[in-house]
Amino acid sequence: MSSVFQDAIKTLLAPIENLLDDPTVSEIMINGPHEIFIEQKGLVFLAPNKFPDEEALMASMRAIAQSVGRVVDADNPRLDARLPDGSRIAVVIPPMAKNGTTVAIRKFSEEKLGLKDMIDFGSLSPDGARFLDCCMYLGKNTLVSGGTGSGKTTMLNVLGSRMPKTQRLLIIEDAAELQIKADHVVQFETRKGNPERGITEVSIRDLVESALRLRPDRIIVGEVRGQEALDLLNAMGTGHEGSMGTVHANTPLDACTRLETLCLMGETKIPPDAIRKMVGSALQMIVQCNRYHDGGRRTSHISEVLGVDEHGRYIVRDIFRWIQTGKDPETGKYIGEMVPCGYVPTWFPEFVSNKLPFPKSKFRPPEWALEYLNPTKKKAA
Ligand SMILES: Nc1ncnc2c1ncn2[C@@H]1O[C@H](COP(=O)(O)OP(=O)(O)OP(=O)(O)O)[C@@H](O)[C@H]1O
Ligand SMILES: [Mg+2]
Repeated sequence: MSSVFQDAIKTLLAPIENLLDDPTVSEIMINGPHEIFIEQKGLVFLAPNKFPDEEALMASMRAIAQSVGRVVDADNPRLDARLPDGSRIAVVIPPMAKNGTTVAIRKFSEEKLGLKDMIDFGSLSPDGARFLDCCMYLGKNTLVSGGTGSGKTTMLNVLGSRMPKTQRLLIIEDAAELQIKADHVVQFETRKGNPERGITEVSIRDLVESALRLRPDRIIVGEVRGQEALDLLNAMGTGHEGSMGTVHANTPLDACTRLETLCLMGETKIPPDAIRKMVGSALQMIVQCNRYHDGGRRTSHISEVLGVDEHGRYIVRDIFRWIQTGKDPETGKYIGEMVPCGYVPTWFPEFVSNKLPFPKSKFRPPEWALEYLNPTKKKAA
């Protein structure tokens, strides 16, 4: 993109320039010209910034759309795009947006988080992080699950960067967000169709199909939102162990159901029972991300998917869980810890045969955690 455009965008976004430049601001939410909220350290605050009027706000959004070859107008009232610096922007304009032009900017951060940062932020315990590291090395098929803005993409990036450096990773995303550090990475991005200009759409599904022919060792789908779920499961089940994706779901069990629902979208001829079995057998691990009310983003569960029982229910067992034990009265921050749940994953023998530094004893929960993990048992005792 020409720097003339970059300068133009900067000028048009002048009312929020200080927010764009402030590294502590991770997200900017504009609800019409006179109401701007920001997220800092996971918490949302009202900012004093304002656009002069709706017209000025609309003009800047139109310019941003234009700079990425798109249009925002009455016929195209929604925009999902990226700013020149890699930040993500989503826009909806009136009359759909009742507050006036509504915008969210997820700021791009040069400094990608790593496993160590996840430990420092309290998102993972050192053992939880070490365990995930071992699973990435072994190539466990993993789904990162979580709500909007819970840290799924960040987690996928962290996990992807722990894969063996020699493997060929094919990454497929709607908008290239992942920056996985590895030696052999191939990255694909979808294209929106524009029939008027003769541009055909290239979907995640199309790209997964191509990726499978490009000799991948592992496939990573940034966000599984449609029938590509089926393709990802196929990849996982056909020799691309260690493939990964993210999905919107609130618990590990929901993530399985969600994946199943996505597979059934469209016109698949595979019956639901068979799909459920595919999900149960292809998927091995779920990493659940959660944004808590205190602003903290934590990994709430690391779970194993064992399959489907005779009643067609998913069997999911928690390996690690984050447990809240209290709340700091001054800061309002939750106090808690990620603990092992006393369950040894079925692939533990691979840890032993590969001499991975993670002894079985690390799956044993600490004494204090038992009443949280097993509240009914404790009461009965
Ligand atoms: N463990 C963490 N600790 C602190 N901040 C985090 C953590 N994980 C992610 N973040 C921050 O939270 C914001 C949202 O993260 P991310 O984009 O990974 O979420 P997401 O679940 O992929 O969101 P979406 O649903 O919109 O795709 C980013 O600003 C990111 O830097
Ligand atoms: Mg994401």
